[in-house]
Amino acid sequence: MSTLQPQQPLQHIDQWDDFVAARYQEGKDASEFRNYDEKANPGVAEFYRFNHANQTLAFVLEKEKEYGALKRGKKSIWAAADYLNTLVDDSDPDTDLCQIEHLLQTAEAIRKDGHPRWFILAGFMHDLGKVLCLYGEPQWAVVGDTFPVGCAYSDQIIFPEFFALNPDMRVPEYQTKYGIYEPNCGLDNVHLSWGHDEYIYRVTKNYLPEPALYMLRYHSFYPAHRHGAYRHLMSARDETMFEWVRKFNAYDLYSKGAAKPNQAELKPFYEDLIAEYVPAEIDW
Ligand SMILES: [Fe+2]
Ligand SMILES: [Fe+2]
Repeated sequence: MSTLQPQQPLQHIDQWDDFVAARYQEGKDASEFRNYDEKANPGVAEFYRFNHANQTLAFVLEKEKEYGALKRGKKSIWAAADYLNTLVDDSDPDTDLCQIEHLLQTAEAIRKDGHPRWFILAGFMHDLGKVLCLYGEPQWAVVGDTFPVGCAYSDQIIFPEFFALNPDMRVPEYQTKYGIYEPNCGLDNVHLSWGHDEYIYRVTKNYLPEPALYMLRYHSFYPAHRHGAYRHLMSARDETMFEWVRKFNAYDLYSKGAAKPNQAELKPFYEDLIAEYVPAEIDW
């Protein structure tokens, strides 16, 4: 099986987050979704070309096994956030917020709206899976909209034409509506393209309440939570929990312009909050 070589077409992985935020700008018509052409967004298009070409079922199963074992050592949540912060944007070191700042802005916006403490914590932790970049994973295996593998691709996935490059396209069993899955089998039984959502879910699944775990695990699953795709694989439980995923998504997308958070001032609050739910050090 031939796959394209890993490449890093994004200047920084936050370029994908910025693309998504622009795509779902508040007030923007949903019908504009399909109007992304390669020429207007060359780096992002190239990124999706690699993502869609290489995220096969076999690749996902391999990564689930590799990282699901949590053999990357023990770390506290705050230490993981500090570690993630070492991922700097070479192209624009001054203007972009560092990783902890995005986590704190998301969490603080949730906190200001009076949501439960576990919801605030989900905001603080949701992107920690991006440490996959620091483990040497290519951009296309860390970020990007996620989608099920092992069944037909929805046309509600961005740049669906790039799936022509995916070897799974030539496996008829993987290209039926349900593929390897049963109707409404529940997303816990479905393999999504590998990335930072699934990894942070696996790291935290013993510690956080169920709605928080849904937020972490499915926040990049835009085809489902934004476009209503793949309901034929979702259970009634998933449908209920996706209300929380949608609630969370607004904070992820729209808290960015907010004031720069003061890390030193906020740290004690977040240390206490983390300690309420998570042991001092956990397996990564
Ligand atoms: Fe994310
Ligand atoms: Fe985020």
